[in-house]
Amino acid sequence: MDWHAWHEDYDRADSALSGRLRVVREWLALTLDTAPPGPLRVVSVCAGQGRDLLGVLEDHPRRDDVAARLVELDPRNAAEASDAAGALGLDGVEVVTGDAALTDAYAGAVPADVVLACGIFGNVVDGDVRRAIGFLPQLVTAGGTVIWTRHRKEPDLVPQICHWLEDEQGFERVWLSEPDAGFGVGVHRFAGEPRPLAPGERMFTFTGRVRNGAGGN
Ligand SMILES: C[S@@+](CC[C@H](N)C(=O)[O-])C[C@H]1O[C@@H](n2cnc3c(N)ncnc32)[C@H](O)[C@@H]1O
Repeated sequence: MDWHAWHEDYDRADSALSGRLRVVREWLALTLDTAPPGPLRVVSVCAGQGRDLLGVLEDHPRRDDVAARLVELDPRNAAEASDAAGALGLDGVEVVTGDAALTDAYAGAVPADVVLACGIFGNVVDGDVRRAIGFLPQLVTAGGTVIWTRHRKEPDLVPQICHWLEDEQGFERVWLSEPDAGFGVGVHRFAGEPRPLAPGERMFTFTGRVRNGAGGN
């Protein structure tokens, strides 16, 4: 999979991926709008080119309160994200070129007020979706928000993802996109007790095959 070319669908305003991006940005902006005053931490797992976060921070009143770590394996995407953050003067945005599946990538950046897990759950086996969700209490602060995505193609894993988040990991559903939206976006708030970051753990492994098609992640 060419993860740099994958982002080209964002440049077509009528693509499912662009529709998904608009929704993710709306919820991210709303989450920042309603966050208490003071410093805010954001982490983006498998951040790609950072279009969700950077597109919101660009003109958000909380932009200078945000310390963000974006972790992305593809150096071309990481460079795009880093350049875009620099051009926007977002000094609090750190782009790490590395393996976002390793807990070590988040040392010093968590627990975060917002965790972006977009474009992951459609690219790993179901067991790894559950495993990754099991690590979220190590990444998010009490009351923090996870914004996640997963396609709605059959077999639709979204109900199961909600079950894992809500019944196994102590999250409360804030919002879920409609089944026929053309994409799946979920927003969950952490109502449980954060856990310390366990070093040296692998949270998931990308399958490396295209399961869902562009925009279906
Ligand atoms: C489907 S894209 C999603 C990108 C971004 N989160 C978005 O929604 O626009 C998946 C991204 O994960 C990256 N990726 C794949 N495996 C990774 C890993 N182990 N660590 C960090 N990034 C990874 C790919 O390079 C790609 O940019």
